[in-house]
Amino acid sequence: MNNQNVYRNKTELTNLHGQPIYMNDVVEACLLGRLNLFLQGDTGSGKTQLAKDAMTQFGDKSLFILGRNDMDTRELFHQINPEFIRALKEGKLEKGVSPKELTDKINYHLTVVDELPNCVPAVRAQLFNLFDGFIEINGRAYPIGNGYSVGIATGNVGQKFTESANELGRALKDRMHVVIDTDYFFPKPSDTLEILSESTNPRVEFTSSPEDNSESVIERSSRLVSQDTSLDKYLVANYLLHGLDYCSKGSKRKMKEKWPAQLENHEQGSDVGLVLPVSPRAAKSILRLSQSLDEIARGKGASEETIEANAFDSVMQAYKFVSAYSGVLNEQAVNANYEGDKYRALDAIIAATRTQFDDQVGNIRAGLEMVKSGKTNQKVLNLFKDRWGFMKDTLGGLAEHYGNKKS
Ligand SMILES: Nc1ncnc2c1ncn2[C@@H]1O[C@H](COP(=O)(O)OP(=O)(O)OP(=O)(O)O)[C@@H](O)[C@H]1O
Ligand SMILES: [Mg+2]
Repeated sequence: MNNQNVYRNKTELTNLHGQPIYMNDVVEACLLGRLNLFLQGDTGSGKTQLAKDAMTQFGDKSLFILGRNDMDTRELFHQINPEFIRALKEGKLEKGVSPKELTDKINYHLTVVDELPNCVPAVRAQLFNLFDGFIEINGRAYPIGNGYSVGIATGNVGQKFTESANELGRALKDRMHVVIDTDYFFPKPSDTLEILSESTNPRVEFTSSPEDNSESVIERSSRLVSQDTSLDKYLVANYLLHGLDYCSKGSKRKMKEKWPAQLENHEQGSDVGLVLPVSPRAAKSILRLSQSLDEIARGKGASEETIEANAFDSVMQAYKFVSAYSGVLNEQAVNANYEGDKYRALDAIIAATRTQFDDQVGNIRAGLEMVKSGKTNQKVLNLFKDRWGFMKDTLGGLAEHYGNKKS
């Protein structure tokens, strides 16, 4: 980000490829990966300020909405483009001014919604559409943002976030790709000293940006999303999708609400009872965020060798920030064993996964050799059992793919 940022925080969210990753780095990673970010937390520790800072990169091509429960979609449209309401009032939409003419003039790349949980569901739905780059009028979707759009929202939802029965929780899980609970990454005393000495104005500072860096952000983003993802990363992602699904009953997914209560006793205390597998949608977000975090670390000086060698770490750190609030964790176990700290629970899962991969390293290597040879070898495939059973189909598929390429 640029140096006009007001937000200060030297608390590391993680360390990747030997580089510290701070809160503003994660925001930057989300902008690069075009991943919607939800800043959860209740402490007045700068969520709004952080989101405002992100807006300065887009000049006037960003929109700030303060969520209020008395705002309807009509008022929202007015805030997006006052011409809308005028056109609607004057019946222009019927007289030939097409909604497209109006939506074409809307060119927001970043939508920030402060206090999103205050919005009523109908407004929220429109806001999520804006995050994803369109606006819906009379059942039709009109694109905005010229191919690049992303959203940052703030709010305090706490537990409600992951309750699947809760409408807000479900909507957030579906549409926000990355969630950071800022309460776990509070600024350091040296940061707060600096913050306080700079200004004792408790309001969010509105820095107006002299320049619009949209073009450069969009350019970096499109370069990033067109990069190839390494085979190693796909394997780790497949472990999160399938390896974590395994239990002695067969599949956690198929157990539905019977998970985790009806697991075998010995599984209750392990990661089998602590976490569900990720969804394909989450897996996509994880890979995208992993690529973005690599790019941030690269910008801080990490070498290509290190980035390539630590593909596992990169995917796992992305997994942590995509999954903590996505509803895959067993909340009771997190409360009982990790004092309710979802990130600590995920750290434990990451450590267990690391051990799993270390144990399998020889088998994985044999599997990848098989893929390179382009031939399926049953003896190699049989090395993979239980939670690693997914590798049979994974490698079989890859061998076929590369075999076809060769011939
Ligand atoms: N990490 C920080 N760096 C710089 N300024 C900060 C930081 N944290 C808080 N502030 C300042 O403190 C005030 C409150 O911050 P802000 O409104 O962004 O917090 P918030 O997390 O959005 O709070 P709330 O949950 O009440 O909405 C602002 O003046 C802001 O500039
Ligand atoms: Mg705020």
